[in-house]
Amino acid sequence: RLMRRNRLLEITTEAARYFYYQLTRTEQGKHALGYLDSRKVTEEFRRRFGLGYAPISRDGLYRFLQSKGYGDDEIRGAGLSNGGGEKVYDRFFNRLMFPIFDAQGRAIAFGGRVMGSGEPKYLNSPETEIFNKRKNLYGMQIAKKSRRGKILVVEGYMDVLSLHQAGFDNAVASLGTALTKEQALLMKKYVSDVVLIYDSDQAGTKAAQRAIPILEDTGLYVKVLRIPGYKDPDEFIKNKSREEFEALIQEALDPIDFEMVVLNSQTGADTVEGKVKTLKALAQRLSEISNPLERELHIRDVAQKMQVDEQSLKREVDEIQRMSG
Ligand code: CTP
Ligand code: MN
Ligand code: MN
Ligand code: MN
Ligand code: MN
Repeated sequence: RLMRRNRLLEITTEAARYFYYQLTRTEQGKHALGYLDSRKVTEEFRRRFGLGYAPISRDGLYRFLQSKGYGDDEIRGAGLSNGGGEKVYDRFFNRLMFPIFDAQGRAIAFGGRVMGSGEPKYLNSPETEIFNKRKNLYGMQIAKKSRRGKILVVEGYMDVLSLHQAGFDNAVASLGTALTKEQALLMKKYVSDVVLIYDSDQAGTKAAQRAIPILEDTGLYVKVLRIPGYKDPDEFIKNKSREEFEALIQEALDPIDFEMVVLNSQTGADTVEGKVKTLKALAQRLSEISNPLERELHIRDVAQKMQVDEQSLKREVDEIQRMSG
């Protein structure tokens, strides 16, 4: 078992080397280098994240790995090829490759982006004996050493790269899935504060709403940042500046304030019905704050911001608490 795992880890490491070579030393790779230029990824960060290129080839990687002594079953097991014998196909071709490292810095899987149009935009390694995506975060091998004292959670590979390049070496991405308990526990090993910075679309808002309780249940302090004017952190940082992003982080919202902003924009704060609906949902959230002092302060704050009587809101919260036990 351990033997097998080590073999698979060797294979993914060899594959990362192969993709890196294809990017930096071949004619075909030039196109991918151009793509990286167009997205303003510098050579330093391209290296730091081990980016590569999977060439247009049916079985180039497979043959490379075979020449290194690895067998069909192992290469398939590492998630890099399909089929066998004469009918082997590399999983990745003509894509910009992002190796995914575990927290110890071992390459365990890949994400590959099409350059230009094509579906899917990102193709990822399947789950393997060495890659459980629930347990890993893209960029964690670097973010864990950050001295910024908190972790920034973003959606995508490019968000992580751009933020690191702008000096935010504490950014990680959750690999295209909903944030998991295992990922929360992984972050908890290194920090106690997390800032969620998801895309500015509805999917991003939903993802943040789902992630909040998972992180809080792990004992992490959570803030939520909504990016104004741009669709994700990568675009913001490229059009604005490091300083402006730093300022945004300082203004990240407490989860209750985030919930209030989202609810107000969904139900509208300008009608009585909308406001009641929002207040009921907020009262529910407030009732879940176990520390009495913290609960009281949040009740006062919400009452003020929603322009309702603090005692009425408090009665509502108390009522929910009585009902639930
Ligand atoms: N993702 C994925 N498979 C897809 C689409 C997305 O695994 N078909 C994951 C990737 O990790 C991606 C993240 O979800 O980075 C966020 O997706 P999206 O916002 O669509 O992409 P961006 O990261 O913004 O990609 P880019 O800026 O390169 O367009
Ligand atoms: Mn998105
Ligand atoms: Mn993007
Ligand atoms: Mn995005
Ligand atoms: Mn709080």
